[in-house]
Amino acid sequence: MQTRVLTGITTTGTPHLGNYVGAIRPAIAASRRADVDAFFFLADYHALIKSDDAARIERSRLEIAATWLAAGLDPARVTFYRQSDIPEIPELTWFLTCVTAKGLLNRAHAYKAAVDKNAEGGEDPDAGITAGLYMYPVLMAADILAFDAHQVPVGRDQIQHLEMARDIAQRFNHIHGRDFFVLPEVVIEEQVATLPGLDGRKMSKSYDNTIPLFAGGAKALREAIMRIVTDSRAPGEPKDPDSSSLYTIFRAFADATESAAFRQSLVDGIGWGEAKQRLFERIEADVAPMRERYETLIAKPGEIEETLREGAAKARAIATPKLAAIRDAIGLRAMGATAAAKATKPTAAKAGKGPRFASFRDGDAGFRFRLLSADGEELLLSMPFADPKAAGALQQRVRQLGQAAVLREDGDALLLELDGEAVARTPQAGDELLGRLREALEQLAAQD
Ligand code: TRP
Repeated sequence: MQTRVLTGITTTGTPHLGNYVGAIRPAIAASRRADVDAFFFLADYHALIKSDDAARIERSRLEIAATWLAAGLDPARVTFYRQSDIPEIPELTWFLTCVTAKGLLNRAHAYKAAVDKNAEGGEDPDAGITAGLYMYPVLMAADILAFDAHQVPVGRDQIQHLEMARDIAQRFNHIHGRDFFVLPEVVIEEQVATLPGLDGRKMSKSYDNTIPLFAGGAKALREAIMRIVTDSRAPGEPKDPDSSSLYTIFRAFADATESAAFRQSLVDGIGWGEAKQRLFERIEADVAPMRERYETLIAKPGEIEETLREGAAKARAIATPKLAAIRDAIGLRAMGATAAAKATKPTAAKAGKGPRFASFRDGDAGFRFRLLSADGEELLLSMPFADPKAAGALQQRVRQLGQAAVLREDGDALLLELDGEAVARTPQAGDELLGRLREALEQLAAQD
């Protein structure tokens, strides 16, 4: 069986040498493996969270698509598409949103960092934070779950997003009682090099220390390399390869023999200017043919458009039936299908195996009831009522709630709310209990 490996590329900015070595090149190499069914997509919906500049969004999508194709991504072999061409992704995003705990999203690193920054600046905690940023992890979960990806190669900063995708998938699977979604595994490439940038720190757009991959042609590449910071050793003085960015970058392109020769030259005292020229020539040997393809591609955006549309058709062949099954599972069915669905619901009540209510008198406090699971576990304890009839009427209403039940976290318990008032509480909090409670409420509603 092939492993489905899926990854998204946020379409902001212009690819640099660090992106090529750290992400593009290894991903394309992996996509050629026979046991891999690779999905690559342009995460342009995610890009909208980071930028509202339409021209930049447009430009970046084109540049990034052309870069991946020029670097050797074979659209006949992999599924290469744009997120915004797959309507099933936002559709699934909503379905997942409805089972995602708000508290889970409160804990997302990117959101929390933005809140902390506001707090430091004495601002309102949510100042300048869009709901898009807040919902980012759910959209990402939909990207992955719509295609049942097994593995998702990402950078370390994305590990939490993958954990959330698994969490959300599990929650959905639990609620609907079936393994709808494959639980995706995160893959962190430990082997790939992170390139130092011009100033020796990790090459990154946020440090403004990047070396462009294609932008500006060979001239811009050479100019950037000439600006890499070195120490002040003069020509003839031995250089330490292991503390030199030049050597680190050189090795990311060269084989062992070439690297050893470059290393020796540094030890022998080659001047920094000459060393940079050699580094430029080595990189240019790899980049020049790709740049040529890149220029050809970017001159014909219509062809890239066509390629991406074909990719979207391939991707939707999977996502469309998947979403149809999900719509059906959650109750968005053709009207006539309802009766049939009811008939197939487990008739736990009849067998006496369903959840049930147990009423009792709680001393002077009044009349209460508990909701017990099929195995007798206490799921809810009601507030006390002076009148046993009121307690009975409430049971009747709880019985009908099903998915509409409003449950709110309150310290170490969950509250069941009706008309904005807490009417019952759970003995403890936690996702597991929440799952069982939801399940019990749905079973009760189905018994009616
Ligand atoms: N958030 C990812 C990043 O910034 C990009 C991304 C969006 C992604 N959707 C995805 C990656 C789905 C993997 C799978 O790198």
